[in-house]
Amino acid sequence: MQTLFQMPHTPKVIAPPMVEEVLGADERATLIAHIKTMMAQQNAVLVAHYYTSADLQDLADATGGCVSDSLEMARFGHAHAASTILVAGVKFMGDTAKILNPEKRVLMPDLNANCSLDLACPADEFSAFCDQHPDRVVVVYANTSAAVKARADWVVTSGTAVKIVAHLHALGQKILWAPDKYLGDYVQRTTGADMLLWQGSCVVHEAFKAKELAAMKLAHPDAAVLVHPESPADVIALADVVGSTTQIIRAAQTMPNREFIVATDNGIFHKMHAAAPGKVFIEAPTAGVGATCKSCAHCPWMAMNGLRSLAHVLETGVNEILVDSATQQKAVLSIQRMLDFAAQH
Ligand code: 13P
Ligand code: SF4
Repeated sequence: MQTLFQMPHTPKVIAPPMVEEVLGADERATLIAHIKTMMAQQNAVLVAHYYTSADLQDLADATGGCVSDSLEMARFGHAHAASTILVAGVKFMGDTAKILNPEKRVLMPDLNANCSLDLACPADEFSAFCDQHPDRVVVVYANTSAAVKARADWVVTSGTAVKIVAHLHALGQKILWAPDKYLGDYVQRTTGADMLLWQGSCVVHEAFKAKELAAMKLAHPDAAVLVHPESPADVIALADVVGSTTQIIRAAQTMPNREFIVATDNGIFHKMHAAAPGKVFIEAPTAGVGATCKSCAHCPWMAMNGLRSLAHVLETGVNEILVDSATQQKAVLSIQRMLDFAAQH
């Protein structure tokens, strides 16, 4: 049962323009060789998200790093012996790596690579909201700042949210959830938990349109629809599978369908093609009333990561993620709680 309440102001987030790195073959090869040498010299491992460029994903794979969802990025960086973790993704992923590994150096290609969910949840306003609801367990999505994680009882990712909230609900707990209203709504409907929802959203997933998706389904009657739960409820309602990026790739591998309509960032197609060769992946539509593009399913912050900027941070040591120790010591508890839960379930 969702409770009515006075919501604090949720900042409107404007996405930056999309600027993707374009490289010629020679420059690409030179950069990759240079980065590999520097990584070996600096005992560094590259952890990349599925939404980053194919170049970065391939480099992570080729150098013994990982390409994954945000849950596995956190697990992998934590378990790895490297003394430097290079995080190709967005700021909250770098923060999580640093919180879990305060003794390691964590570098990111571009510190401006943020996330509309993180930006929509300022720590001071969020903390005041929590203070108004002391009877609720505070559960925050991983797409939040270190300070917001420090205020939370639990961190969850898209791959763990339903199970963790169902667990808390079974214990009779009421929940304060932030920041994604769509994921929160999906988790609430799936678990039946009593949840107060912060009103943030993902600029990428929010753009998927149910009416156009229904029409696309009619045109591709044998296609399975795979949807990330940051999407609006009417888009989720049309899904055959709702899940994290890793769960979406797994569904493409294991389902018998040949065609898939995919409602998440199109950076994921690189791994989907590799994981399920011969299958056909179609971008879910983002066109519709008010839409400014036909297929804008790509995160402008993820696109800030590139080989040039990765080489630059290795050469100079800039863009190191730092989290003050008081925040780190609190935030690590809520992240570790999730990792322990995920390991047990
Ligand atoms: P995943 O954990 O499913 O990869 O999601 C992270 C994210 O930012 C999706 O937009
Ligand atoms: Fe944030 Fe959305 Fe980009 Fe994921 S795709 S990092 S949720 S803005």
